[in-house]
Amino acid sequence: MIMFRNFYFMLLLLAALPLDIVHAQDDQSGFISIDCGIARGTNYTDSKTGLNYVSEAGFIESGVSQKILPTYNSPNLDIQFTTLTSFPQGTRNCYTLRPKKGKGNRYLIRARFHYGNYDFKGQPPQFDLYLGSDLWYTVNFNASLAMDYEIIHLTSSDYIYVCLVNIGLGTPFISALELRLLDSSMYATQLQSLILFDRANFGTSETVRYGDDKYDRIWYTTTSNRLVDVHTSGTVSNLGSSTANEVPSKVMSTALTSPNVTRDIYYPWTATDANQEFFIYLYIAEIETLKSNQKREFYIYLNEVYWDGPVSPLDHTTTTYLIKSSNSLVNNITLYQTKNSTLPPLFNAIELYIPKQLRQQQTEDQDAEAIWSIKSTYGLTRNWQGDPCAPQTSVWVGINCSYNDSENPRITSLNLSSSGLSGEIADALANLTMIQSLDLSNNNLTGNVPKFLASFSFLEMLIEGISDQDEGSCLKDSCKKKTRSKVVIPVIATVAAFFVLITTLSIIWIIRRRQPKEIVNADEPGDIIESRNQRLAFLEIQSITNSFNTVLGKGGFGTVFYGCLGDKQVAVKMLSESSAQGYREFQAEVRLLMSVHHKNITSLVGYCDEGSQKGIIYEYMANGNLGMHLFDGSLNVLSWKKRLEIGYDAAQGLEYMHHGCKPPIVHRDVKCSNILLNETLQAKLADFGLSRAFATEGATHVSTAIAGTPGYLDPEYYTTNRLTEKSDVYSFGVVLLELITGRQAISDNMYIVNWVKSMVAQGNVEKIIDPRLHGDFDKNAAWKVLELALTCVDHTSARRPTMNDVVTDLKSCLKAEKGVHGPKPNIPDQFMSLNLESMMGPNLR
Ligand SMILES: *[C@@H]1O[C@H](CO)[C@@H](O)[C@H](O)[C@H]1NC(C)=O
Ligand SMILES: *[C@@H]1O[C@H](CO)[C@@H](O)[C@H](O)[C@H]1NC(C)=O
Ligand SMILES: *[C@@H]1O[C@H](CO)[C@@H](O)[C@H](O)[C@H]1NC(C)=O
Ligand SMILES: *[C@@H]1O[C@H](CO)[C@@H](O)[C@H](O)[C@H]1NC(C)=O
Ligand SMILES: *[C@@H]1O[C@H](CO)[C@@H](O)[C@H](O)[C@H]1NC(C)=O
Ligand SMILES: *[C@@H]1O[C@H](CO)[C@@H](O)[C@H](O)[C@H]1NC(C)=O
Ligand SMILES: *[C@@H]1O[C@H](CO)[C@@H](O)[C@H](O)[C@H]1NC(C)=O
Ligand SMILES: *[C@@H]1O[C@H](CO)[C@@H](O)[C@H](O)[C@H]1NC(C)=O
Ligand SMILES: *[C@@H]1O[C@H](CO)[C@@H](O)[C@H](O)[C@H]1NC(C)=O
Ligand SMILES: *[C@@H]1O[C@H](CO)[C@@H](O)[C@H](O)[C@H]1NC(C)=O
Repeated sequence: MIMFRNFYFMLLLLAALPLDIVHAQDDQSGFISIDCGIARGTNYTDSKTGLNYVSEAGFIESGVSQKILPTYNSPNLDIQFTTLTSFPQGTRNCYTLRPKKGKGNRYLIRARFHYGNYDFKGQPPQFDLYLGSDLWYTVNFNASLAMDYEIIHLTSSDYIYVCLVNIGLGTPFISALELRLLDSSMYATQLQSLILFDRANFGTSETVRYGDDKYDRIWYTTTSNRLVDVHTSGTVSNLGSSTANEVPSKVMSTALTSPNVTRDIYYPWTATDANQEFFIYLYIAEIETLKSNQKREFYIYLNEVYWDGPVSPLDHTTTTYLIKSSNSLVNNITLYQTKNSTLPPLFNAIELYIPKQLRQQQTEDQDAEAIWSIKSTYGLTRNWQGDPCAPQTSVWVGINCSYNDSENPRITSLNLSSSGLSGEIADALANLTMIQSLDLSNNNLTGNVPKFLASFSFLEMLIEGISDQDEGSCLKDSCKKKTRSKVVIPVIATVAAFFVLITTLSIIWIIRRRQPKEIVNADEPGDIIESRNQRLAFLEIQSITNSFNTVLGKGGFGTVFYGCLGDKQVAVKMLSESSAQGYREFQAEVRLLMSVHHKNITSLVGYCDEGSQKGIIYEYMANGNLGMHLFDGSLNVLSWKKRLEIGYDAAQGLEYMHHGCKPPIVHRDVKCSNILLNETLQAKLADFGLSRAFATEGATHVSTAIAGTPGYLDPEYYTTNRLTEKSDVYSFGVVLLELITGRQAISDNMYIVNWVKSMVAQGNVEKIIDPRLHGDFDKNAAWKVLELALTCVDHTSARRPTMNDVVTDLKSCLKAEKGVHGPKPNIPDQFMSLNLESMMGPNLR
């Protein structure tokens, strides 16, 4: 009985004999050969194989170079095994390969590992090897000194990512990474990739590799003392067989056969699990010279089941038998000699592959190329590696993607704020065509905003810029169009804003100019504000806020702290020092608040303007902003009546600004987070940094600077640049819709205005009202408010009501509501169930 040793990727490291000297004409242009752990930027030609190896520079940034211990070295050891790269940092580290021939080609990818006790732990690690987002294999050394993992893979992307993932069983490492372009006819399977299980060259003790095999498969040696080696000095060709996988002559010219004329031969192996499928490529060629009375003929059986035959090997010509097996732990290929045969069977080589259908979820190439280009343009050192969008659990920081089972993931947002970028805005951004949000704030970018940004269909972005030299002429109409592409960027400050999709608006620029000549309320700032009694020293601010002890929130152009001025609670907004842009808003806001007093407008307590320390002190609004109470995740559901009251409060604040102030003031940034609630949930407008006063009532105002928050921004203002009070009416309409629906202006990529309109169109009016209200509202009043909200968000500003009208309507709705409900306290269910015990407890005793 004859048994072959089952290799399972085992390398006979020390037994391997030197390979033949390499044929110089062989082409390595389809190869990538990385020797991990050698000095970055170096390269060499392996004298044993003639392969040109390079360092991993350009393929990966992370990793630590290591050497195996000398005891594990030997003259016959492949030189790539003497160094390695380990990855103590991060759970996932990826090599990025970009083969020249790109996608649509079949590649052999081989990862090689030799532990060599480099870390003196005497215990090789276990870790996962991934191809992109697909698990390729779990690297496990068991008793082996070294392991090779190979996969044959038809790529659908120009990028191939090989990732090592730490699974908590030691530090991942790798010794070499090799990629070989195959001919398209080789290993042609349907969609599967093929993971190598074993590859054996029979009848020789010599490993065959590159030079003899132009595809650099490693043909491990397999000998048997119970079978006999046969070999030929002639050439074995692949002619006549289209499925020969181009097995090299050197491999085919040796074979194993039985010494006994009547003996069958077989090749058994054990799968790693019983359900494993195998693709078995059996390569056979006659390499003995047969006499006329001799005949070699046999049947091929798999697991005692007939597969093929009778077959007679072709003289010096390879025949490939592809045999597929499944559902067997123990497998056995047997060649049975026929009765008529005078010679025993023989075989020359075998390959065993496990077919695997990879999901190949990979970022669309165009996006991947753009983002890699951006990374290199700016020399970004952040840990961006592997596929930008896949797997979904390790998306690059600062990037959001969209996923769709039938399409590749696309990059939908990019946040490069505070990334130390300098230079011009990278052209590669133009290729991120699905991007909806781009944040480049807090960098030192210079130059013009490229035209391509204006052509995005979905983009919404925030760039805060300082204008260039010709700002003086910007009042003129002729200059207006130019500004779209002529905004100059030192992108310095940041304004907290939401960057999300609005399908109705194609692009939103939030651009602030240093010297806004167009602002009419331009009794231009020297160092503002004369009022002495409201002006506080920085030291006082420090004491009021207990050295900035409690942060209430971040936003606008700084951080808001809690403070106490005497027995009065206050909120102190400090302008962040780095934010040069915010200063103008600071001035605008202080000036405005000093002149405006209304119960529905947050009142100014004081301000600080001491060198770089700028702060505004407001009355404290104990219940934060409306958004915190309205949207998902808020514990307490606002009752319908409360919502109406809040809407009514905010409307009155706006009405006062529009109709009670001379000149009228446009808030320009009406949104839920700018409506604050005090301890009795009375609503007040806040954040007047963008507000503008107009010289003459009713005048429209042409501005080159569009500002506001996506989702609330008046589309007419956006397209015409004409700013009127009606822009606030639009934003207020959006707030009303949020109050009615409990949905955010933009959620699930749906714009609330479109959503409501589509629900109305479908006759689904009932579904519009926030389901958390459980129908506890007066329907007629609700429809009326909805109608009002929809007229507020009319695309044409002339058709929108004034804030006077809005206040009148809301007032009547509120009255109707009060009529319906008695004074019954509106305690939300959630609240009751949560607090039942603690509320009842004391009373029961
Ligand atoms: C190998 O290194 C040499 C310099 O040492 C360099 O000129 C050459 O371009 C490098 N080759 C590759 C393939 O990186
Ligand atoms: C390695 O050993 C473990 C247990 O010792 C076993 O479960 C696993 O299948 C082995 N792996 C290989 C590739 O033989
Ligand atoms: C097969 O050959 C071996 C030695 O080559 C011999 O000992 C054995 O008896 C033979 N068996 C048969 C069945 O011929
Ligand atoms: C493989 O098949 C041969 C021939 O039937 C048999 O002798 C041998 O025991 C089998 N080996 C295994 C491991 O099943
Ligand atoms: C054996 O040879 C005879 C005569 O050449 C032929 O008729 C018969 O079909 C052959 N048997 C097999 C199994 O090939
Ligand atoms: C990106 O996704 C994260 C997590 O879902 C979210 O918090 C963030 O707001 C998103 N950023 C953009 C710009 O959409
Ligand atoms: C995925 O994309 C296809 C084609 O664009 C589209 O028809 C389908 O609705 C999308 N599916 C999802 C879940 O977005
Ligand atoms: C971008 O990231 C910064 C900090 O990482 C964050 O403050 C800012 O809100 C983000 N921008 C967007 C649009 O999410
Ligand atoms: C911009 O550049 C200036 C000077 O080169 C530097 O002081 C400043 O820190 C940079 N700002 C950012 C946000 O990188
Ligand atoms: C954008 O993509 C096209 C096509 O892939 C490419 O030719 C072009 O160089 C890319 N542009 C930039 C600026 O990267």
